[in-house]
Amino acid sequence: MSALPKPPGAAPDAPVAPRPALRVRSMRADDLDAVMAIESAVYPFPWTRGNFADSLKAGYDAWVFKAAEGASGELLGYAVVMWIPDEVHLLNLSVDGAMHGRGIGRAMLDWLMRDGRRRGARGMMLEVRPSNHAAIALYRNAGFAQIGVRRRYYPAPHGAREDAWVMFREFDDE
Ligand SMILES: CC(C)(COP(=O)(O)OP(=O)(O)OC[C@H]1O[C@@H](n2cnc3c(N)ncnc32)[C@H](O)[C@@H]1OP(=O)(O)O)[C@@H](O)C(=O)NCCC(=O)NCCS
Repeated sequence: MSALPKPPGAAPDAPVAPRPALRVRSMRADDLDAVMAIESAVYPFPWTRGNFADSLKAGYDAWVFKAAEGASGELLGYAVVMWIPDEVHLLNLSVDGAMHGRGIGRAMLDWLMRDGRRRGARGMMLEVRPSNHAAIALYRNAGFAQIGVRRRYYPAPHGAREDAWVMFREFDDE
């Protein structure tokens, strides 16, 4: 991965969305144990610790999300975003498996889109497995449309490969 300039203006530790109430800050190296615990539980083919470390070194936006209230301080989710350079490319969006279905993924995605728009991106792009119905429903509900397919993009069980759908949401409508 190549180092790309990071647009100025990210606001660490800012409130996210009214419902559910989350807080966000930049991911740090000392978050990686908690990040990897979630990552290895929610994906059949998870990123490695090295993938996250490389993303931090490359200067990608990497965010961790926690509950705004409460003392636990447990990570609810995290995201990694690459600027390319007038679009944001969502590389990873993950919510703790025990917390799925409570609106956290949508709140994180809405914050990431607001942050991208505020910092000058014209839209957000991502790849998703066609078999990932929860993620596709999340992205469609959030205004993303499929714009292409990358053939045999992902590893799949038994040495097979799975296509990626490329989805895009333009930021011109709000
Ligand atoms: C995809 C993911 C981030 C969604 O997070 P979440 O917090 O569970 O999602 P939310 O509760 O915010 O749901 C948002 C929308 O997603 C959709 N959705 C979520 N879970 C779903 C499921 N199991 N089946 C169908 N749709 C689902 C719904 O459309 C929902 O909208 P609704 O509020 O109208 O019901 C989460 O399932 C996850 O971390 N999965 C593992 C990692 C992953 O696959 N990331 C995406 C990689 S591209």
